[in-house]
Amino acid sequence: MHSIPEPLLAERFAEFDAVTLRRGEVTVLDTLSLMLPLSRRTVILGANGAGKTTLLQLVQGLAQPTTGRIRRLSGGGADPAVRLAYVFQKPVMLRRSAQANVEHALAVAGVPVHRRAEAAGAALARLGLGYAAHRPARRLSGGEQQRVALARALALGPHSLLLDEPTASLDPGAAAAIERELLALAGDGIGLVMATHDLAMARRLASHLVFMHRGQVLESGPADQCFRSPRHETLRRFLAGQWLD
Ligand SMILES: Nc1ncnc2c1ncn2[C@@H]1O[C@H](COP(=O)(O)OP(=O)(O)O)[C@@H](O)[C@H]1O
Ligand SMILES: [Mg+2]
Repeated sequence: MHSIPEPLLAERFAEFDAVTLRRGEVTVLDTLSLMLPLSRRTVILGANGAGKTTLLQLVQGLAQPTTGRIRRLSGGGADPAVRLAYVFQKPVMLRRSAQANVEHALAVAGVPVHRRAEAAGAALARLGLGYAAHRPARRLSGGEQQRVALARALALGPHSLLLDEPTASLDPGAAAAIERELLALAGDGIGLVMATHDLAMARRLASHLVFMHRGQVLESGPADQCFRSPRHETLRRFLAGQWLD
């Protein structure tokens, strides 16, 4: 097992212990062992097909390893009470208001009915969406729908958000606005774990970087260090904008 340095004891992690995931003949993730920080701004960076979405799904428990084990840790020990909320790459809005979408997520999570309206309203307000609470969610812009998706996740009171390509389907202005919201949430103490293929976004948002290539984690460490002096040749090439093979 890994030994955890003293200052990290207060942090939350997902610990991957020799995790392999196969789908049919394909080995999607190959014997991953790492400590994935949950309480920082962790960016999982890699080209399409690298295994980023699958890694996030494993952390959330939406997929199970074929072999190996994943545990949530806090205070240096296993802690299943670490709460995570997942934001899908293409959030699906129900055919109802933004407010009702958030309330629905709360209902599914077992929040009693008398507490849902206030919690949903507060989450939407926190994302600057008070004005749109009672509009049909599917008529909102892409950027607004992504905010509803963030509000829906936040309303559950997570320690950390897991975000799959949170700005990939947005125009640059809407993407920049979402990035600002994410930084504000991080400033409020919410951990972020974000999968992206977008190097520029990773440079702007990451405090910790996990670089994936073909189902393996090639590098994991403080983002500034990884960007300044990448150890792995493949990351060096990715940073230089070259094709990976
Ligand atoms: N259901 C599946 N069956 C077979 N292969 C899959 C399945 N889902 C994903 N894969 C493969 O797993 C690899 C990693 O996928 P994914 O985690 O979605 O990568 P990323 O999010 O980095 O683009 C890809 O090569 C993909 O084709
Ligand atoms: Mg993906």
